[in-house]
Amino acid sequence: MPYLFKDTTRAAQRLQVLAEVFATSSRAFLQDAVSTTPEVAIDLGCGPGYTTHLLAETTHCGHTFGFDNSEHFIVLATQSSTLDISFVHHDVTQLPFPTGQSNLISCRMLLTHLQNPASIIERWSTQLHPQGLLLLEEVEYIQTEYPPFRSYLGIVAAMLEQQQNQLYIGSTLDTQRVSSDLQRHISRVYSLPVSTAQAATMFFLNIQSWKNSPFIQEQYSANMIDQMERDLQELAATATNTNEIEWGMRQIAYERC
Ligand SMILES: C[S@@+](CC[C@H](N)C(=O)[O-])C[C@H]1O[C@@H](n2cnc3c(N)ncnc32)[C@H](O)[C@@H]1O
Repeated sequence: MPYLFKDTTRAAQRLQVLAEVFATSSRAFLQDAVSTTPEVAIDLGCGPGYTTHLLAETTHCGHTFGFDNSEHFIVLATQSSTLDISFVHHDVTQLPFPTGQSNLISCRMLLTHLQNPASIIERWSTQLHPQGLLLLEEVEYIQTEYPPFRSYLGIVAAMLEQQQNQLYIGSTLDTQRVSSDLQRHISRVYSLPVSTAQAATMFFLNIQSWKNSPFIQEQYSANMIDQMERDLQELAATATNTNEIEWGMRQIAYERC
């Protein structure tokens, strides 16, 4: 299935805002889950590389790789590569990983876009050394009573669902059975209030990526989507420092036995 949120310049801008918003939850998760410095860590679905840098800074890993199947994102990410951080164009559903086994594999907001997350988790675990960690961070809920946000989220959830993906995949991951090779150390939900302006920015930047998709064109009027985009853009520019929305991020840490 294609990645619905695309890899355009706007999509990269959205991931920059997303990186600012979710750094708090991801940093807390990494600090709690990783107790020894990994030699090699991999960030799956790294986009333009923000999560890869956060992973490297927080774990002080020997070498950190970011994998993504978007050539454009890998070109952008590579501009920030260092001696200890590098980026590889790779489809993460394809095994073995080009870097071989590692001590830590991490991904944020990726499983929501992949098919058969249960089987892919099992397959990723084979790319870990014994005692290696697999860290997953995905959306459990997005709580808001604000009508423009609710409309936007309803559309995104429906669009993912029609290709057998889940926006709120967190609880599914929590209840899913995995092989006895994987021992679960953490499964928790981290609550993150987000400013109205930042949420509106992430949302309006995303609309252009999917508004011309066949599903959207069949299900929604173009005028309605254009109006939603304009409203969210205006909100992004004018919202005062209010919190109309909160994310719950499911954070799961497995260790390979
Ligand atoms: C929502 S973005 C998340 C980016 C980053 N992890 C973050 O949290 O900011 C999902 C990323 O996964 C990448 N992606 C989607 N399917 C992929 C696949 N099969 N292999 C590698 N990367 C993939 C997309 O190109 C995109 O960069």
